[in-house]
Amino acid sequence: MTRIPLIAGNWKLNLGPSQARALGAELAQALADRRDTEVAIFPTALSIPAVLGAVKGSGITVGVQEIHDKDTGAYTGTNSAHFAREAGCTWALIGHSERRQLFAETDEAVGRKARAALQAGLLPMVCIGETLEQRDAGQVHAVVTRQLSAALGTLRPDEAVTVAIAYEPIWAIGTGRTASPEQAQEVHAALRAWLRDRYPAFVAEQTRILYGGSVKPANAAELLGQPDIDGALVGGASLKADSFRAIVQAASA
Ligand code: PGA
Repeated sequence: MTRIPLIAGNWKLNLGPSQARALGAELAQALADRRDTEVAIFPTALSIPAVLGAVKGSGITVGVQEIHDKDTGAYTGTNSAHFAREAGCTWALIGHSERRQLFAETDEAVGRKARAALQAGLLPMVCIGETLEQRDAGQVHAVVTRQLSAALGTLRPDEAVTVAIAYEPIWAIGTGRTASPEQAQEVHAALRAWLRDRYPAFVAEQTRILYGGSVKPANAAELLGQPDIDGALVGGASLKADSFRAIVQAASA
């Protein structure tokens, strides 16, 4: 069973509507010749409509960076999964380490949000990953499997298989320091083994596990060449069409 590679761009709090529209249009053109690779981008919420317009017809999908687990109500300042779906989003990014660290998002909240996304018809992209202290203390496996278990929680196998898992070691995000292909592959293989233990075989076979953390054109091919790395979640290098395109090409090779 081959998993279709997925390259996702997390634009974080960058590119307002006009800049986002311009990059979306550039990407729609630059990526037109990609083969067998899915592409998703996560603009800041206010730029989503502009990007959706710019990538229309290109096959590039768009996601929201943050959702609440409640659809409507007195929850000032957040996004509803249902509204994101209605606006045209395909994905919801959930549990990014910046949300966990800067906005106190817990494992339990990540689980609730994954369920809310699925109920609204969005595909969850769930981020997990350890700090440097946890890695140095030999806790990588315990941390990422605890986070994954909380995120997938009570999902049925047919729901779990639609989730894209993004393994992003926190020490590699925005630092220029990437996990080596061997370090990343080791964790990805452990995550797949965890899925194999808990679900029917198709879930481990089909679920895409992306790597994130300082992915750039220079290291993408080696990372994406690992047997259990099915794509990348790209921050900094997704903000320029040429570097993002080079990563997409590395996945299509
Ligand atoms: P980076 O960010 O590629 O800039 O390290 C990755 C992410 O935060 O998803």
